[in-house]
Amino acid sequence: MRYSENLIEEVRERNDIVDVISNYVQLKKKGSTYFGLCPFHSEKSPSFSVTPAKQMYYCFGCGAGGNVYTFLMEYENFTFPEAVEYLAERCGMPLPKMEEESPEAKKEADRKTSLLEIQKEAARYFYYQLKSQRGSLGMAYLKKRQLSDTTITKFGLGYSNKTSNDLYLYLKKKGYSDELLKESGLVTIEERGTYDKFWNRVMFPIMDVRNRVIGFGGRVMGDGEPKYLNSPETRIFDKSRNLYGINEAKNSRRPNFIICEGYMDVISLHQAGFTNAVASLGTAFTSGQASLIKRYTKEVLLTYDSDKAGVKAALRAIPILKEVGLRARVILLSPYKDPDEWIKNKGAESFEERITEAKNSFLYEIEMLKREYQMEDPEQKTRFYQETAKKLLEFPEELERTTYMEAICKEHEIDYEGLRNMVKRFAYQMGAQPAVMVRTSQKQQTAKQGKEGGIKESQRLLLTWLIEDMSLFQKLEGLISPRDFTDSFYHMVAEMLYKQYQEERTVNPAKIISKFTKEEEQREAAQLFHTTLTTPMDKKQKETAVNETVYKIKQNWCEYAGSHASDFAELEEIKKVKRSLQDLHISLT
Ligand code: UTP
Ligand code: MN
Repeated sequence: MRYSENLIEEVRERNDIVDVISNYVQLKKKGSTYFGLCPFHSEKSPSFSVTPAKQMYYCFGCGAGGNVYTFLMEYENFTFPEAVEYLAERCGMPLPKMEEESPEAKKEADRKTSLLEIQKEAARYFYYQLKSQRGSLGMAYLKKRQLSDTTITKFGLGYSNKTSNDLYLYLKKKGYSDELLKESGLVTIEERGTYDKFWNRVMFPIMDVRNRVIGFGGRVMGDGEPKYLNSPETRIFDKSRNLYGINEAKNSRRPNFIICEGYMDVISLHQAGFTNAVASLGTAFTSGQASLIKRYTKEVLLTYDSDKAGVKAALRAIPILKEVGLRARVILLSPYKDPDEWIKNKGAESFEERITEAKNSFLYEIEMLKREYQMEDPEQKTRFYQETAKKLLEFPEELERTTYMEAICKEHEIDYEGLRNMVKRFAYQMGAQPAVMVRTSQKQQTAKQGKEGGIKESQRLLLTWLIEDMSLFQKLEGLISPRDFTDSFYHMVAEMLYKQYQEERTVNPAKIISKFTKEEEQREAAQLFHTTLTTPMDKKQKETAVNETVYKIKQNWCEYAGSHASDFAELEEIKKVKRSLQDLHISLT
């Protein structure tokens, strides 16, 4: 952590969460809480709440939550120090000079900063060329493709001149060294001379989630080769972890992401209102890109070109998406080639319909599989059934498999019993009835998870109650302490909470959250501080619940301590705790 805890707290206290969030979300006061439409998922009625007393926000719809720092980290994609810096500036608080980093780290950081500056300068230069007389060819092309001026500006499109090294000369004049320019990927420096990589192309600046230009794609004017030229990877441009359009798509309120094939598709979709469209950068879709998307949505719509290459790309992407836990559906575009063509010919509304009709990715895979066989030939037809049966084994859950089997049989007019028998037989052949084995091992696993989940849940509940009702600290004195929280995350929170209570006789959830600098941890902590809002109870019920929960937690501790105990005294203590549990009664009155 780069800033001191006191400083982080002071900055947080000086920036009221309601004020800050009001800049992004329209909030209405209801009692002691403010409500608005959640900026992190799409919704029609407000489930996003901001509680000034706690200085926290929480969404009952999607579970997003945290303090003012978390909000900026999620909304603006700031890192934690960036959020601190932003809020310090907002309230006019000077920040101390940061401790010097190691010389190597500093050099690397400086180099990255310079490379980012160069990309930004180049984007400005290309944009300026496009708007000037020299760029008229490029402008005519974009107009022909029906891009509006707003769209051109929004995506910062540009033009690289026909001359061979004007960008180089421009950047050189700005004072950048040849070495750095070479690394930027924008120029080639050889003994014979220095050349711009891009010339006579319409330029697409590629931006990361934080709106920083990290590279370019350029489309040739006319029929030259290659049609699209892309910046090489550099220390600021990792193609496998970025997506074209992500900077806009991440703030889209649409419920999913659309993945398409190219720059023009993304732009055309955005212009038509589909601001959730992204594309990979001239390479195949990667798992790094899937994880990036996973940060913002749960479902992805694939809309690759309807040609052979497009189908292949979709079939490659589906398992990658599933691997990170994203749901996938496929938008079918034929007879048109790509989304851009579809929208030009049939309009945005009709594309919206296409989205509703998007095909479940498994059913899509089967449909594509079928195309590989000549179904008039009985032998080929059987092979198709066999491949389908094998593929169905991907689903370990029998119920899910059945659902898919039914859908497939209906769609392709296959005999259900026949296919089912085939699936069973393959399951058997693939080594000792995997279906049965998978099922039991899964059951055992869920049972274990259930137990672990149960105890985690109990620890979470107790923490939430402690935060909500400080009198519990006294009522549980001598009974519960941080060591009872065996889950490592809850243990950390419990320690902080008990420390706060002991030192200040108060609890301050927003302060605890700042101690976690990772967004996921902040989110989890925030959830903790909001759970009971959803489960109102009367006093009697609460008393029973507290007693049951404490009992479970203590028992779990006994088990846990029992398996970790290293000496006799500890075992004695465990015995003592066990005995005391027999007549446990906590009164809340
Ligand atoms: P397409 O050739 O389908 O692009 O390539 P497009 O959008 O239909 O092109 P227009 O409409 O003729 O302008 C799709 C994507 O594949 C990459 C680019 O990222 C492009 O956007 N690509 C294509 C390359 O990287 N190099 C190429 O030579 C061609
Ligand atoms: Mn295309």
